[in-house]
Order: sequence, then C-alpha cells, then structure tokens
Amino acid sequence: MAIIIDGKAEAALAIDAVKASHATFEAESGIKAGLAVVIVGDDPASHAYVGAKGRMAKECGFHSVQHTLPRETSQLDLLRLIEALNADPVIHGILVQLPLPDHLDAEPVIQSIRPEKDVDGLHVMNAGDLATGLISCTPAGAMLLVSRIHGRDLSGLNAVVVGRSNLFGKPMAQLLLDANATVTMAHSRTLDLPAVCRRADILVAAVGRAELIKADWVKPGATVIDVGINRIAAPERGEGRTRIIGDVDFSGCKEIAGAITPVPGGVGPMTISMLMNNTLAAAKMSAARPLQQHWFPLSSPFG
Ligand code: GUN
Repeated sequence: MAIIIDGKAEAALAIDAVKASHATFEAESGIKAGLAVVIVGDDPASHAYVGAKGRMAKECGFHSVQHTLPRETSQLDLLRLIEALNADPVIHGILVQLPLPDHLDAEPVIQSIRPEKDVDGLHVMNAGDLATGLISCTPAGAMLLVSRIHGRDLSGLNAVVVGRSNLFGKPMAQLLLDANATVTMAHSRTLDLPAVCRRADILVAAVGRAELIKADWVKPGATVIDVGINRIAAPERGEGRTRIIGDVDFSGCKEIAGAITPVPGGVGPMTISMLMNNTLAAAKMSAARPLQQHWFPLSSPFG
C-alpha cells in the first residue's frame, strides 16, 4: 500500500512559512503584500476558488482585493482594469481567474499583466523562465509534493506527464526537466498510453478524465500525482449531490504505487499556498526594485 501524500498538511506548512516571512517583511519594510483577484461572470466553482484565495490572502496578513465583473464585461474593460492594477503600487500580485466567459480572449489578458505581478506564473516571460521566477502555482505545488518523496534532484528518474495544457502540463514538464528528470509528455493522441505510463517513476495525471489512470498503468513503487478535478454525481450522498474525483483510479492505484496523492486533499490545497508564496515573492521583489532603480542611473555611463 502506497504512502498517501497529505497535500493539506504540506500546504499548511507552506502557509505557516509564508505567514512568518510576511510578518518579518512587513515589520522591516512597512509594506503589506497586495493581491488582486479578478473574476468575470458567475460560475459557482470559480467563485468558490476565488473566495478561498481571498480568504487565505487575508489570513496571511496580505492586502487582498477581489474585482467581480459581470459576465458581459468587454475585453477592453477587462484590459483597462489590468492596466489600473499594473499601475497600482499597493498591488503586487494580479490573478485573473480562468476560464473566462467565451466572448473574452484570455491570452491577451494574461499577457497584459506585468510579469513581475503575474503571481499565476502564466505570462510568457515567467513560463519561459526568463523574468521573475514566479512559477505557475499548481505545477509548483505538485513539484513540492514530488520533492517530498524524491528530493529536489530527479536524476535518473522517468517522469510522464499526461496532459499538455498551458496552465499545468507544459509548465509541470518544464519543472520536472529542470530537476533533471527524463520527461515524456503524453496526451490524447499518444499511442498506447498505458504502456507509456507504465515506464514512469513519477506519473503526473492532468487530463480532466475521471479515473482514466488504472492500476495496471502504474509501475510498482511509482509516485502518482493526480491533478484532476472531476465533479461526478454522488446519489449515495443524496439526490442531486456531487463529489470530486481525480484522473487516477485511486483505490486501485494505491495498491501498486509507492506514493500517491488523493483527490481531494492532494495537489489542490497546494495551489493556494503557492499563490501566497508567489504574492509574497512579488512584494519582496517590488520592495527591492526602487533600490536597483536608484543604483542603475548612478552607475550607468548614460546616467
Ligand atoms: N482556474 C483553475 N485553476 C486556475 C489557476 O491556477 N489560475 C487561474 N488564473 N485560474 C484557474
């Protein structure tokens, strides 16, 4: 039977570290980390996530604001709000909750966020490892769980990421690669997906298909990280009730794997703690920047 990786406990440890570090930062600098979360429309699941992010930001001692825009908000109005938040000195992190309503194009919105305020890590400058070191929250959380089992150096290990989304699969593969794993990205067009998965020492599932990954797809002793969030009917809980399950058949796979994350209670809780960590990092970077801006002209031959 596998080690069940406790994402709630890991997330709580990460939040404790953020709270302590923020308290010191605030005492020394007089600056509170500021997080703005933008949500468009009234999708109940998105509102639940955004509410949790705002509450956690407050619990960490941050300045936390939520902008709730009506479903019919135009692209231009959304871009104007981002521009205002980009210019607002008390806001260090901006997150636009996805998905946006269909008439809005998410990509230009995400790319309009200043990279140093992109606490989601989705700006090309961050995704490409070029700018601020703000890493996309869910992959960062999943990596932290992987490191609890394997340490930070994954040399010699085969990792398979099932799913190639911009939000998760691609940045996760990059992080695994950065940690020296040998990485395969699998997806809906991969030939013989079970055989590819069976080669994985670290198997990461993020496809959005309930219980796709079966016990006989798992290499004995492998670490299985389940990023899926699938809502299914749960008539056993009463009429009309639902529950959340992952992309992994947990009850079967836990008998084969060496370590496995449950859903809920695995990767999910890590995402918010990584968001808080990124917001604090963004605030610290912003506090350090005026000093650099002073220095540069003085030391520059053009100054
Ligand atoms: N919707 C679901 N997960 C996420 C996330 O990590 N970031 C954003 N912005 N939206 C999401």
